[in-house]
Amino acid sequence: MNQPHIVIEARDVTLSLGKGSARVDILKGIHLDVASGESLALLGPSGSGKSSLMAVLSGLERATGGSIRVADADFGALDEDGLALARRGRIGIVLQAFHLLPTMTAIENVAVPLELDGVEDAFARAEKELTAVGLGHRLSHYPAQLSGGEQQRVAIARAIAPRPALLFADEPTGNLDAATGQSIMDLLFARQRETGATLVMITHDEALSRRCDRIVTMRDGVVISDHDGDGPNGDGRA
Ligand SMILES: Nc1ncnc2c1ncn2[C@@H]1O[C@H](COP(=O)(O)OP(=O)(O)OP(=O)(O)O)[C@@H](O)[C@H]1O
Ligand SMILES: [Mg+2]
Repeated sequence: MNQPHIVIEARDVTLSLGKGSARVDILKGIHLDVASGESLALLGPSGSGKSSLMAVLSGLERATGGSIRVADADFGALDEDGLALARRGRIGIVLQAFHLLPTMTAIENVAVPLELDGVEDAFARAEKELTAVGLGHRLSHYPAQLSGGEQQRVAIARAIAPRPALLFADEPTGNLDAATGQSIMDLLFARQRETGATLVMITHDEALSRRCDRIVTMRDGVVISDHDGDGPNGDGRA
């Protein structure tokens, strides 16, 4: 049997913020291996550390202890520039707060990062991705002129447009009605399969989590369960 290639390897990862009596231990020793092409749902109550774990695994924040390797890059050994370089074009992130640039239109929010990465047909690709998330009619709207769910869809289009090998999404359907959420997830899973990307997705939606290959549940800064979902790579694996 082929061993699956491990793209995320987290060992005893801790994250503590603040000092002395103000110190908060947010992540308390996380071990996690994620295989290439896998879809993983991260569940857990509010405050359990899901977004924090995503921040350290995607290189947005540095862990305080332990080690993280992502696509063979040792995050702890890289300086800021090295980290930015390791992430660029390889890691796509949809954050809980969408972080769209307010002075750029929807299409610019998607296309400009592509241009910076040297993509030739950046605007054409941005239009295609925005159309795919149902925003073909909102290309020249600014974020303030978009609803919460529309902003979320722009953020999803922006994350998937560079076709990253690793896609992180923090409650990607949290602001969408059930039908729109469903179609966005169909799109996200389809893109993931098309590109062979690895997907790590935070959700509070149990039905959605079951569509993933694997379901990891956190509580109070640790992983308390890790089992197969109903996704195509999820069945029959220990
Ligand atoms: N900058 C910070 N300083 C101090 N504590 C923080 C900071 N950021 C997060 N925390 C704390 O860390 C804990 C985990 O936060 P995190 O955002 O990872 O939770 P979460 O599981 O994503 O929750 P939710 O489902 O509500 O988004 C929370 O108790 C939060 O208050
Ligand atoms: Mg969160």
